[in-house]
Amino acid sequence: MCGIVGYIGENDTKEILLNGLEKLEYRGYDSAGIATLNDEGVCLTKVKGRIAALRESVDSSVQSTMGIGHTRWATHGVPGIINAHPHQSASGRFTLVHNGVIENFNKLKKEYLSDFDFVSDTDTEVIVQLIEKLYQKHQNTVTAFREAMRLLKGSYAIGMIDAEDHETLYVSKNKSPLLVGIGDGFNLVASDAMATLKETDQYVEIHDKEIVLVCRNFVEVQTIEGAVVDRKPYTAQIDASDTEKGTYSHFMLKEIDEQPIVMRKIINEYQNEDNELKLDADIRNAMKAADRIYIIAAGTSYHAGLVGKEFLEKLAKIPVEVHVASEFSYNMPLLSEKPLFIFISQSGETADSRSVLVKIKEKGYPALTITNVTGSTLSREANYTLHLYAGPEIAVASTKAYTAQIAVLAILAVDTASAKGFHLDFDPMQELAIVANAMEVLTDQKEELEQLARDYFATTRNAFFIGRSSDYNVSLEAALKLKEISYIQAEGFAGGELKHGTIALIEEGTPVIALATQENVNYSIRGNVQEVVARGANAMIISLKGLEEDDDAFVLPHVHELLTPLVSVIPMQLLAYYAALHRNCDVDKPRNLAKSVTVE
Ligand code: F6R
Repeated sequence: MCGIVGYIGENDTKEILLNGLEKLEYRGYDSAGIATLNDEGVCLTKVKGRIAALRESVDSSVQSTMGIGHTRWATHGVPGIINAHPHQSASGRFTLVHNGVIENFNKLKKEYLSDFDFVSDTDTEVIVQLIEKLYQKHQNTVTAFREAMRLLKGSYAIGMIDAEDHETLYVSKNKSPLLVGIGDGFNLVASDAMATLKETDQYVEIHDKEIVLVCRNFVEVQTIEGAVVDRKPYTAQIDASDTEKGTYSHFMLKEIDEQPIVMRKIINEYQNEDNELKLDADIRNAMKAADRIYIIAAGTSYHAGLVGKEFLEKLAKIPVEVHVASEFSYNMPLLSEKPLFIFISQSGETADSRSVLVKIKEKGYPALTITNVTGSTLSREANYTLHLYAGPEIAVASTKAYTAQIAVLAILAVDTASAKGFHLDFDPMQELAIVANAMEVLTDQKEELEQLARDYFATTRNAFFIGRSSDYNVSLEAALKLKEISYIQAEGFAGGELKHGTIALIEEGTPVIALATQENVNYSIRGNVQEVVARGANAMIISLKGLEEDDDAFVLPHVHELLTPLVSVIPMQLLAYYAALHRNCDVDKPRNLAKSVTVE
């Protein structure tokens, strides 16, 4: 995680760095800093906390035409000024920002840097001291920088300034994201194009282990061996207004409200002029050829994968396994003969998923990435990509990406089913259009959901979400949403499993939210609700129109039974949102979290 911005050019460097860091705050927000260079030397400002605090601390009179900035999600060392980036070498000549984790930092410290005094607990300080040490030997900054990059093991995106060189930003990356932005009379680097869209929409990708010299009027990309690489810029397809909150108080609420639009966009993008489903023929063939699908993802994307499994097994009749990326990476199950891997990732940068992708590629297995970010690492490195078309998702808690992932998985399942000659008795695009309308109805019921959030979550310590069949998958996501932004301890549970132990936690007033959208388990989930009510729970049932009963707290508009997760999750997202809001939590930037998890 962590966000990096670097700039070299004629404009107000500190303003560009601060604006960029504000846009990157979703990547981490426990401390921040910038370093700018001018004739007086390096001016370094670091704070504990957010970019707003950094903005207040920066000396507005300092003018400069180059600099680097960082917003941090702590890995090594507690959040605080000492561990905040940029870090400086002992002499103060080199100043560096880093995103990632250096796995061999202790070894490097012992082997090369026993004569250096360290001020921070970070792995990053080792990099900058190592560059200084190597500079002492080579007397050349590029060589020292390159030699240091050769010695690093782990993940990194790095930007560095040399106080003796006012013409170059030194940049490199491995596994962590970093892009070079190309401007007229300036150039820049950023963890995400979103950070610097105001400055430019032209970006150059950096590949792992490359070294980039970013100067005012040119950029030179080199391999780690020093060979110059010719790489053309691409145009970032992001609408700058998508990255603003507009009239909303929180990005999360805006993104919840955007879900009907995203559904319609997906329907549009995956249909041809004759309203027929259109999917890349190579993806269709890969799906057809697979004897088993392995879905790999983390967090909310993993929960979308669980829903996708149901689509693929029921419609396309392919066996599917869904795995948490961080577990799969180190404990691979026995694989089938012709597996196809599907990576689901909003950001396309999740390190746990990428680690699996690297391993399965070594074995020669094909991979498809379903992602919201064009050009992201998981997209570039997989054989095929399906886009989510959800637009930038900025709130840390994922909402519209989850429903977009489910919709795209439904389209993939339908396409594979038809490629295999299976007849479907419903029109999937028509059903998704009905879902979009239902989503709109739900997002208009905020007042009702806000009241339910007050009634159930105002003071509670814990909460349970229960469901059966596909409602169970949504319960897992509902619990994750509530806990990550409101800090209420929440668990998603299979309705029938509660009585095998967990029901011991039900006390007088414990909130239990049950989903009842599946006809074949409607009576059994209602039975499970009776069991917890008998033990004092404060239960509510959210049911699907057609299955509702008189006392149900909330009724969802009717949609196709397979697609209910797309609508049942919306009240869950809104309940979590209002619970967090009323508990005075920072909805968009919950504690300890970051949006893009680029460390394993
Ligand atoms: C929760 C959330 C996370 C992400 C997870 C994977 O709201 O956003 O659980 O889903 O970190 O991230 P991506 O989808 O970017 O791979």
